[in-house]
Amino acid sequence: MDKLNKTFYIETYGCQMNTVDSEIVTSILISAGFKLVDDIKEANILLLNTCAIREKAVERVINKMRQHKGFLKSGKLEIAGILGCIPEHTGDELKAKLDFIKLQVGPDKYRTLPQLIKNIYKDRKYHEELDFDIEENYEDVTPYRSEHTNAFISVMRGCNNFCTYCVVPYVRGREKSRTVDSILDEVKNTIAQGITEITLLGQNVNSYNFEGIRFPELLQKVAEIKGMERLKFATSHPKDLTEELIDVIVKNPNISNSFHLPFQAGSNSVLKRMNRGYTIEKYLAKIKMIREKIPNIAITTDIIVGFPGETEDDFQQTVKVLKDTKFDNAFMFIYSERKNTASAKNFKDDVSKEEKSRRQQFISKLQKKIGLVELKKDVGKITEVLIESISKKRDYQYKGRTEQNRIVVFDKIEGYNIGDYAKVKIKKAEGVTLFGEIVE
Ligand code: SAH
Ligand code: SF4
Ligand code: F3S
Repeated sequence: MDKLNKTFYIETYGCQMNTVDSEIVTSILISAGFKLVDDIKEANILLLNTCAIREKAVERVINKMRQHKGFLKSGKLEIAGILGCIPEHTGDELKAKLDFIKLQVGPDKYRTLPQLIKNIYKDRKYHEELDFDIEENYEDVTPYRSEHTNAFISVMRGCNNFCTYCVVPYVRGREKSRTVDSILDEVKNTIAQGITEITLLGQNVNSYNFEGIRFPELLQKVAEIKGMERLKFATSHPKDLTEELIDVIVKNPNISNSFHLPFQAGSNSVLKRMNRGYTIEKYLAKIKMIREKIPNIAITTDIIVGFPGETEDDFQQTVKVLKDTKFDNAFMFIYSERKNTASAKNFKDDVSKEEKSRRQQFISKLQKKIGLVELKKDVGKITEVLIESISKKRDYQYKGRTEQNRIVVFDKIEGYNIGDYAKVKIKKAEGVTLFGEIVE
């Protein structure tokens, strides 16, 4: 294909899977001769890689695209396109609202981008590629890394779980696991580039299965790679989480002592309607097992409030789980009805907006207090921190993360650079941040 000598700018929304996908898209476009720019004013092509998980995420993208529209008239911008999960979910509605976009491409079709863009330059018409491809794992594409200390590496794509509220199975298609060899190769190459912290990604890593090799075995293989300093993974689904996986964490000191395990709701009747496949008792038993095996583990979770039919009593059961379990952090969402999902079809979105907000604010406040108590337990300890960046607020300080994935801010000192590991003594905890100083 002839080179076009065009520049592109990409913005990413949504989960870490989209972060990796944007790195894949960037790599594909650069290989085809396009040039990446980090200023939209310099771009001929604008791409937004989007998320459809909640209606708010969609509204955000629409607003952003409208803001950027001006560059089509006044700047160098020639083509505006939308990638990722919204095109698969409500691409037609999006096209109607943003009639100036020229391109929509779904997560399995990024290889077609160079040709599509070329076609648009030829015919000035709208183009889209939204098919799913069960074979597409982008195994041969080396993602273009934007971060220098940590890398996300996807081990699987898609999801088969069909939690009734969730669009992911509809916008990402069926679950598919990458080959073990391609994952190990990518990890080795990433370490060779100087990145020592790696996060293995999938919507449900516990259902990874490549020719009988399951996630615990894969994790063990990755942990053994030379130069692997810190290994993380996300996300685990409680129903598929096994003791074997926890044993792999115990056995390998380079696997981060942090665990993200969404419980979504404390009431069994809500969990059942969500099709989560576990009871809250089973969930809590798993938490107990994890804590017994790894006492200093930091556990985080996701919660949805205001799921259809959630009563005050149901909600109080969520509150109780929060109080009893003492998560390090929790991501708390207001239920957002998604087109095509089972809960949209079968249940009435009957918890009022006000009540949903009240519930969310209540647990946010509660979790803030609980999280801070947990965080304060680190005060006085000396922990190993990976230096990730310069602190946004104060340029004489670094920001890093502890083994438990907690954020730490501390003064820079000579001899320590971004990407290094430092021993940091924790002095205080505020909000969700630890403050400390390097001890040599
Ligand atoms: N695969 C991951 C999560 C993916 S989405 C998992 O199963 O854990 C991240 C979080 O968004 C979910 O855990 C859930 O809490 C929330 N979420 C998903 N769909 C939602 C919806 N329709 N409304 C509100 N929150 C939602
Ligand atoms: Fe969505 Fe459930 Fe799959 Fe997570 S496991 S992506 S919540 S369907
Ligand atoms: Fe959003 Fe798609 Fe991820 S819907 S949460 S970006 S898989």
